[in-house]
Order: sequence, then C-alpha cells, then structure tokens
Amino acid sequence: MRTVSTDTITQSFIDYMGEDTDERTRVVLCSLVKHLHNFARETELTHDEWRKGLELLFAAGSISSPERNEFVLFSDVLGMSSLVDMMHSSAEATPSSVLGPFHVLGAPELAVGGDMRGDNDGEAVVVSGKVLSTDGSMIKGATLEIWQTAENGLYSGQDAAQPEYNLRARMKSATDGRYLFSTVRPAPYTVPEDGPVGELLRATGRQPWRPSHLHFIVSAPGHKTLVTEVFPSDDPYLDKDAVFGVRERLIMEYKPDTNHENLPDELAIKSKLADESFFTVNFDFILKTTSN
Ligand code: BEZ
Ligand code: FE
Repeated sequence: MRTVSTDTITQSFIDYMGEDTDERTRVVLCSLVKHLHNFARETELTHDEWRKGLELLFAAGSISSPERNEFVLFSDVLGMSSLVDMMHSSAEATPSSVLGPFHVLGAPELAVGGDMRGDNDGEAVVVSGKVLSTDGSMIKGATLEIWQTAENGLYSGQDAAQPEYNLRARMKSATDGRYLFSTVRPAPYTVPEDGPVGELLRATGRQPWRPSHLHFIVSAPGHKTLVTEVFPSDDPYLDKDAVFGVRERLIMEYKPDTNHENLPDELAIKSKLADESFFTVNFDFILKTTSN
C-alpha cells in the first residue's frame, strides 16, 4: 500500500507478510502488532513516551549478561511469565510458578532425610512429602531440585560469602515417592531494583518484595516437569508478590514444634534438633502424566 494512514497501517503490516510465512508466526505477530497499534491509538502515545519505552528496552539489554536477564525480569513484573505459565498449567497437577534467575545446575545429591542447612543460621525447617502422579500412583526415583535463599535473603551465586551450592540440593524420591530434608527457613527478598525494572516499579508505586519460598523442579519419566515454588502461609508479602508467583495451592503451613521425637528416624539431624525448636512442613507434588 503506497499511502499509509493511522487507519490502514495495521492492515499494511499484515499485507506485507510473505505467503510462505509459518502459520503460527503469522498468527502471533499479526496479533501482537494489532495490539501494539491499538495501544498507541488508544493512549494517543506521544513521541516522548514511545522513546522512553525504547530507552527502557535499551537499558534492559545493556544491564543483561549471562548471569542476569532483565527481559525475563520485565516479563515477571509485568505478569507475563505467570500468565503464560497459568494458561498451560493442568488443574489436576500441582500448579507451576516462576523459575526465577537463580536456579543453577549441578547442585549436590542429597539422600532422603539429608540435611541442606549445613552451617547456615536461621530457624530449622523439616520439609517432607510425596511425589505423586495424576494417575494416582506414587513416583519412585523422581528428581527434586531444591534451592532457596539464606537468612539474609540472598541466593548462593549472589553472595560471595556463601559456598557455591549453599542451600541447593538434588534429591531422588524414595520407593514410596517420599522426600524429606532439613533446611533453614528461607527469607523474603527484593527483585533486582538497580536497572530499568526497578525504575518501572518505582514509577508505578510498586514494592519490589517477593514472599519467602522454596523453589522446586520436580521431574520423572513419563511426566511433565514441574517448575514451582512453595510459600509459608504467614509471609507478609503473600498478597503482593512483585512477580505474581503465589497460587493458593502453593501455600503451606510451617508448623512450629519442639519435640524432636516427632521427627522421622531417617532425618540425619534428628538428634541435633533435640536442643532447638523447629518447623515442619508437609507438601505433596502431583506431576501430570505425559500420556494423557
Ligand atoms: C526468584 O524466585 O528467584 C525470582 C523470580 C522472579 C524474579 C526474581 C527472582
Ligand atoms: Fe526465588
């Protein structure tokens, strides 16, 4: 089209696409551009405002590195990561939630009943549960990757004072699907605020905190891998998570206890807990079979 106007530009974009464009690419891009053009028309977007948006994207690229992806963080705080996640989540399985940027491969293997807290300060927590399939069976040998913050709200990798794999582990569920480990209570923390995402949060009067959580990736043959996180019911940030990761079914109760005799014998640090109070947490993971 030679003469383009504000009314015809969207159709021109669609018409410019080649005939052999992949069908899904056509659908997604046409929809994206329709929404972008309508957004500009609806808000009567000015040059300065559009330039500001482009500057934010440029700043996101400049601050990103292999260790830090500001675009993912934008996706998180805009709710896109969680929306796409929820759209593809199955009702029978445990809900998934954001992966976040702090997962690393290669965490040490921990036997069922093992201790992940090591020398970390903080309140002791004993976490247990089962890995189940949506077909109702217990899953033996499922892999659980677990990671969390230390008491200072930082992950190993963000904090030079922590050993490389501090508060990270990989566990295989027992023959009856059980998993069990001891750790410290994770702390709430803020998403990185020193880049354009921080600027967006401040400009919109938003707080940067995430409620404390334990991250899990649970995988087993024949099942869809579950990337999720679980939150304590008493966390002050549950209703304002900066990245919209909280789901009702991912909230669990940290139950205070003082009697270590109530703990399973399999727990490696059971006798150490004779002298301190601790919390117990029980949470089952349900994985969706890939066959249905
Ligand atoms: C996290 O849970 O580790 C996380 C998720 C999204 C943004 C920042 C951190
Ligand atoms: Fe996290």
